[in-house]
Parts: sequence; structure tokens; C-alpha cells
Amino acid sequence: MRDDYLQDYYSFLRFPSVSTDEKYAGKVRDCATWLSEKLTKIGLESKVVPTAGHPIVWARNEHKKNRPTVLLYGHYDVQPPDPLELWDSPPFEPVLKNGYVFARGATDNKGQILAHILGIQETLQKNGDLPVNIDLVVEGEEEVGSQNLGKFLTDNRDALKCEVVVVSDTGMVAKHQPTISYGLRGVAALEVKVTGAKMDLHSGVFGGAVANPAAALARMLSTLHDENGHIAVEGFYDEVAPLQDWEREAWRKLPVDADAEILAETRAPALFGEAGFSTLERIWARPTAEINGMGSGYQGPGTKTVLPSHSMAKLTFRLVPNQQADVIIDRVKKHLQKNLPPGVSLEMTAGHHGPWYLTDPNSKFGKAAQRALKKAFDKDASLIREGGSIPIVSDFRKILGVETLLLGLALQDCRAHSPNENFPLENFDMGIRMNQAVLQELAA
Ligand code: BES
Ligand code: ZN
Repeated sequence: MRDDYLQDYYSFLRFPSVSTDEKYAGKVRDCATWLSEKLTKIGLESKVVPTAGHPIVWARNEHKKNRPTVLLYGHYDVQPPDPLELWDSPPFEPVLKNGYVFARGATDNKGQILAHILGIQETLQKNGDLPVNIDLVVEGEEEVGSQNLGKFLTDNRDALKCEVVVVSDTGMVAKHQPTISYGLRGVAALEVKVTGAKMDLHSGVFGGAVANPAAALARMLSTLHDENGHIAVEGFYDEVAPLQDWEREAWRKLPVDADAEILAETRAPALFGEAGFSTLERIWARPTAEINGMGSGYQGPGTKTVLPSHSMAKLTFRLVPNQQADVIIDRVKKHLQKNLPPGVSLEMTAGHHGPWYLTDPNSKFGKAAQRALKKAFDKDASLIREGGSIPIVSDFRKILGVETLLLGLALQDCRAHSPNENFPLENFDMGIRMNQAVLQELAA
């Protein structure tokens, strides 16, 4: 690994570009500026494009007629680093340990997008030109649902005309195992608030007379699933496309023991999910209903005999083909309202949502990607789907009319969104080589 590559990587990681929290907005902007300057330095024409939210960095080489155009997408924003006390070293002070760089964003997505950028830098240094026309779009709002990127794509539809999109923001099934993802789950968010009395009350004086919103919320949320992990919302599965036979077959043969790995990585006492499906099927091809957070009442030290006035929970639903976010949110709202215990009121607010994605891994471009990965890794690529979401990918199809190649470099134990996020330098290097192989194959 060249020392200046590592310095670039560290500089990028030192920006706390947390998109969800207003207090980081200045740092997010600084990060965009740094990135755009980096892209200018390697010989691209780059600018920082303001949006209603965080800016987009857009860079390109000189577009020539006789070669295809590739849109390379990534994000420079990151998830919040909290809880800070669980990090072994500060999240925005990258450190190298045993070949792994630890920092928030190391994998998701700074390491992966920078590997592509350095791949481009190397090619430009070697050949003075790239084999393809490039549009590099790196946004600052992926982790909050890409609210403003769709408008950017629409506004610049003609300038962004391309043959295919390349994204490295997904996983590898195993270390050293090149992986192409041909599917992503969608996501839809819903926040609920349950209210009883207008203020917190003495639980001795009012307990028994006035409903408890914490208890009401618990009862209501417990109706989301049955005891077999099946979602109990009426109609929830109506549009779910069944897994194809070839997929079930292929996933069974993947060089991973997903159950053992997930148990080891998470240290959960046991795996649990919807009955009747394997773990990978549950993550990649089945929808879920998750409670991401809930709160109510006193949570400080000791006891406080209080009857809380309200309770809240943040929910998200992972969606699969052919579910639609608005339809699902509607059904969930009806379900929760129907299962609301007496004595309290319920407010529900739908949040961001992004669609699922499914493409053909054996399309012309899919085949080119498979050849490129074979070249770069000296191994046939695994074809998988992913449980995570990249909402903008379906807009590339809808707005630009093109398919996306998801060429992941993240490892299962990279701790994306968790404390001690990390990325092996080996994968960083692979990414640099992969970029060059992919651009070459796409040009051919
Ligand atoms: N890199 C992830 C998406 C991802 C994760 C793909 C795991 C495949 C496997 C991305 O940065 C992400 O976290 N997306 C969010 C989107 C949401 C905030 C709308 C997600 O999936 O939670
Ligand atoms: Zn993420």
C-alpha cells in the first residue's frame, strides 16, 4: 500500500461527516470540499453541487464519443458514531491494527469509494486517460435516505446519460470471495407515539386509574409478529415475490456458513427469524418489521414511581420485490390502530422510504463485471442479494434508465453502523485493482 494512499484515506476518514445530525453540517460540507479537491488533483473536472440538504460531489473526465459512459456512485456521509464508549479508539481518528483500518466510514462507504477514486488516479497516471467516460457522483445523504439525489438526477438527466452505474457499497460473502449483488431490500420508516395523561403522574395516586402508555406501546408492538417470527399485519406478504429455485439452489452452495458466522460475529445467544426460511433467505429475500428504538418514562439511576405521559418507538420495514412502501405503511398503520389498547391515543408519522432493487446478474454488463472480478480476484464471483438498502439505485433505473452493478468490498464483520467499524487494507487494495479491471471490461 502506497503511503500517500493511506494518507488520503485517513484524511477522508477524519471528517465527521454524519448526515443525520444538524450539528455536523459544517463538517459534512468540509468533507465534500476535500473530496472535490482530491478529484480535481487527480485530473478530473470536479464540483460541489449544493442541494436542499448536504452537497453532492460531481466529477468527470473529458467525455469522448467512441466509448461508453459509466456512472460511479458512492457516499461520503456516515452514520453517527454513538455509543462512543464502545469504540476502542476514537471513531474519527483512524488507526491501523493488524492490517485493518478502524474508523467510522472505513467500510461504509469512504474506503470503498476512495478505492475506486485511487483506481482512477492510477490509470490516469499510467495512461493519461481512462478507457471509459466517467461521471463520479458522491453524495452526502445516503445514510438518511438520499432525499435530494433524485432531483439532482432529474435536473442533470442529459449530462448524466450513461450506459451503466457501478456502486461499491455492499458486501462480499467471504474474505477474498468476489461478490456481485443483484438485489437489495427496500426500506420504509414509521414513528409512533402513544399518549395517555398530559403529564407524568404519581403512579401510586393515578396507577390503576389512568392507562400506562409504556405498557400500551409494548402490547401494541407485540402484535407485529407472531411467535414464529411471521409478520402478523394483514396483507403484509400479499405482494412478496417467492424466491426463485435457482436462487435457493445457488445460495445453498455459497462458500459460507452464514449461521455460524452470524452467531460468532454478533454473539447473540441464538438465531431467530421467520420460520420456514434459511438465514440467508430471511435476510436477502424476505421482508422484516424492526423496532429500531423505543422510549418511555424514567430511565435514570434508581427508581421513580411515575406513570409516563407518553411512549414512542421508531420502526422500519425492510421490503422485497414486489412490495410498495406506501401500501405497506398504510397496512401497518391500520394494524397498529386496530391493536391500540384502550385509554391512550396514537400518532403515527411515516419517515423516509426507498424501494428494493432486483436486476439480472447475467446481463451484458453483469457478464462484463463477472469477467472483471475474475481478472482482479482470480476467482469466479458469487451472485447474491443483500438485506441492506441503497435507495437511489432504483432511481438510476427510473430516472436515467440504466441498471446498476453492485460490486461489494465490505466484509460481514466490518461493523458498519456499529462501534469499531473497520476495513482491511487488503480490500482497499482489491478495490483499487477492481476499479481498473471493471472500467477496462466495460470499455471492451
Ligand atoms: N452500505 C449500506 C447498504 C448496505 C448494507 C447494502 C448492507 C448491503 C448490505 C448503506 O450505506 C446503508 O446503510 N443504507 C441504509 C439506507 C437507509 C438509511 C435508507 C440502510 O440499509 O439502512
Ligand atoms: Zn450505511
